[in-house]
Amino acid sequence: MKQLLRNMFIDNKRVLLRCDFNVPMKAGNITDESKIIKSLETINYLLSKNCKIIILSHLGRVKTEEDKKTYSLLPVKNTLERLLNRPIKFANDILSEETKNLALSLQNGEILLLENTRFLDIPNKWESVLNENVARQIASLGEVFVFDAFAVAHRTHTTVVGLPKYIPSCLGFLVEKEKNMLDKVIMNPVRPFTVIMGGAKVDDKLKIINALLPKCEHLLVSGGIANSFLSTLGLNVGASLKTENPETIKELKNLMLTYKEKFALPLDAIATTTYKDNPTIKNINKIDTNDIIGDIGTKTINKYSTILKESNTIFMNGTMGIYEENAFANGTIEILNTLKEKKEQVVIGGGDTVGAVNTLGFKNIFPNISSGGGATLEYIANGTLPGIEAIVEEDNIEVLDL
Ligand code: 3PG
Repeated sequence: MKQLLRNMFIDNKRVLLRCDFNVPMKAGNITDESKIIKSLETINYLLSKNCKIIILSHLGRVKTEEDKKTYSLLPVKNTLERLLNRPIKFANDILSEETKNLALSLQNGEILLLENTRFLDIPNKWESVLNENVARQIASLGEVFVFDAFAVAHRTHTTVVGLPKYIPSCLGFLVEKEKNMLDKVIMNPVRPFTVIMGGAKVDDKLKIINALLPKCEHLLVSGGIANSFLSTLGLNVGASLKTENPETIKELKNLMLTYKEKFALPLDAIATTTYKDNPTIKNINKIDTNDIIGDIGTKTINKYSTILKESNTIFMNGTMGIYEENAFANGTIEILNTLKEKKEQVVIGGGDTVGAVNTLGFKNIFPNISSGGGATLEYIANGTLPGIEAIVEEDNIEVLDL
């Protein structure tokens, strides 16, 4: 059993708190605050224990110096100040002397938010490739590490798995709750167990699809993932997103041969040539070269709904189409209507999918919501996650000299 925040003596300590503030943004504004709101329980608990709190989080995918302009955590600082109704200090980086001084001079009840951990990736990938020196340096800012970022627990990043080696660590309330919910609903699923998987790129998800297939009875696919499978079968998916990687294509063929009876692929689609105009329902073998697939069609909705009605546990990660456009929202709405009938047996996971549930009129309907899409898929496949594994066992706090 991993050490839990509720069981730690934490009073007056300087706490390094790893959150997931990877919130959706539009033109510099946060469009959905739910990830920040979910972290408040742990933050308020630490405040009630008079801690000095140093918060770490990533935001977006930072690949270039230019990306730093888009992905500053400053908007998150402003939101946190409003939600907590208290000033938050902000450090423009993580490793400078100035930041260290700010962290070490915090008073009880003060909060310091550090700039996006993924800025450490430019130029040397110090976040996304575990770096022990950097981990040791960051750990020296705090006395205790609280891991509360479930959605990134599948990444072996420096601020996810690196810090617990150097200071006492525990799981925060958000991770504890999500883990307990998944253990209860999904880890020993009442069968049949069905996974719904959407998303743009199949290449990223291959490993996970491989690990999931032996564990579920049905895999329903949509989006770019479905297009890649269809194209592998020799069907024309027009100009829709699909993999071009020959290795991936080979692997997809093998998977379909091995697990033929588990796969459910679209039978028809809503297609268009401009994303918005003249969406037309077409059989999946009638897609034209200029078509873009925006959603699943009626036959697919019926096929998928029949499988879902017969399933006793369902995990949904991904939507059926480009739900942000009215013309392509119907598939996702119809599937969510089917899932509504057995909501206790359903887990919805991942920022985008939860966003779709909320915007399409299903807010507060599903009791089992997970903040992590990729993290939850990996948890189902492997039974644990690197970010959770890195935390010490309850009775085994061994700390190295800094
Ligand atoms: C998420 O939103 O799923 C998590 O924050 C992980 O983000 P990542 O896929 O960019 O690592």
